[in-house]
Amino acid sequence: GGPKPLSGKTVLVTAGPTIEKIDPVRFLSNRSSGKMGFALAEEAANMGANVLLVTSVDNLTPPAETEIIKAESAEEMYHAVMGRYKEADIIIKSAAVADYTPVRVFDKKMKKQPGNLTLELKRTKDILKELGERPDKPFLVGFAAETDNLENYARDKMERKRADIIVANDVSREGAGFAGDTNIVTIFKRDGSKRELPLLSKHEAAREILREICREIEKGEKK
Ligand code: PMT
Repeated sequence: GGPKPLSGKTVLVTAGPTIEKIDPVRFLSNRSSGKMGFALAEEAANMGANVLLVTSVDNLTPPAETEIIKAESAEEMYHAVMGRYKEADIIIKSAAVADYTPVRVFDKKMKKQPGNLTLELKRTKDILKELGERPDKPFLVGFAAETDNLENYARDKMERKRADIIVANDVSREGAGFAGDTNIVTIFKRDGSKRELPLLSKHEAAREILREICREIEKGEKK
């Protein structure tokens, strides 16, 4: 019982990998499964939120009453998020977005050629950074997937992307990061503080992250 901490709030979550097409049968992607993002969506819904879930993933069950917004490539995710961000009170960017995408997409299957093949890639737009620059930005939560220097990179991302919270996972640690059912995260906040969480299921980690978000928003509202 009791009042739900996120009732009346809209939470937009991005989850899973992006898929960057090379030709009709090939793509570039990464090892994200979408589990962390789907866990965040489900726990946010349990806490009373109206949830928008932007994702390429279609093999996980989304929470009931969640609106799924399909986005495969980084470009599609950019348009999906920028088209809906004004509805959101909170955006949680747990998707693993490609930093590079092929310069050209071949409309026919590429044929083998003698010798090496060079694939030219260009930078994608940084969705989180762009959100951070909007004057009407919602409460912004970014993730940082790192293999070293976790704290420095996380704090640097918080500054550059103007996020309110960065959730960092050291993806080189057993039980943390991509694909599994567990994660080990540290939550970095703007006031310089951090909270290191132990190995938790992605659902437990999601609950802790959402509680931290609620606390920060409450603090902001009291000011
Ligand atoms: O999906 P799972 O298998 O459960 O794995 C979960 C996870 C490891 C993917 C997740 O916990 C995680 O760390 N997600 C973010 C991965 C990532 O892309 O991190 P990054 O350090 O490259 O990006 C930093 C932040 O900027 C992220 O919030 C990312 O969504 C955002 N970004 C990045 C690039 C880009 N073009 N636009 C963005 O918005």
